[in-house]
Amino acid sequence: MISEKDLKILFDKDSIQTAIKELGERLNSDYGNDELYLICVLKGAVMFMTDLSKHLKMPLRMEFIRLSSYGSGFSSTGKVNAVDISLPDLNDKNVLIIEDIIDTGHTAKFLMDFIRHNFKTNSLKFCSLLDKKVKREVKIDPDYYGFEIDDKFLVGYGLDYDGYYRNLPYIGYIMT
Ligand code: IMP
Ligand code: MG
Repeated sequence: MISEKDLKILFDKDSIQTAIKELGERLNSDYGNDELYLICVLKGAVMFMTDLSKHLKMPLRMEFIRLSSYGSGFSSTGKVNAVDISLPDLNDKNVLIIEDIIDTGHTAKFLMDFIRHNFKTNSLKFCSLLDKKVKREVKIDPDYYGFEIDDKFLVGYGLDYDGYYRNLPYIGYIMT
């Protein structure tokens, strides 16, 4: 178990909340009063989704799915596990997927393809708090993101290492 003292803060609580407020304002202006389905990818996106949703003004519904691609280590496996992906009828709906981070892009691509294959949505977009662009292995870009980051393993604000640190109000990395 790594101690909190070994974490270097990258985004503090205020900068995360400011970025989320700005994203919320963009979404309000882009979707207007159109009804929206937010799909939260558990477990990492839970903090981001709940904070973001509080800024949104359109009629809103939320769904939660559970995918995993990471083992207990620091690097992505590239294989995506659909732990629980039961979804309501998304035909003709505006769908926005909410993720904590896009790393290799396998998870995001899997989910976008899954939804496209099963539904004819009115719109389908992707919103990630963090974008680790340098690590991308498949071609996918989020429609909305909060911060672009380098190749560092981050924890906090939903992001975990071996299940820990999700509760931190800031995002940091492990100093090695
Ligand atoms: P991808 O499929 O490689 O894009 O990985 C996406 C998933 O891996 C994210 O939803 C996270 O759950 C996890 N992940 C990627 N990078 C990090 C990190 O730096 N810290 C914690 N989890 C990460
Ligand atoms: Mg995730």
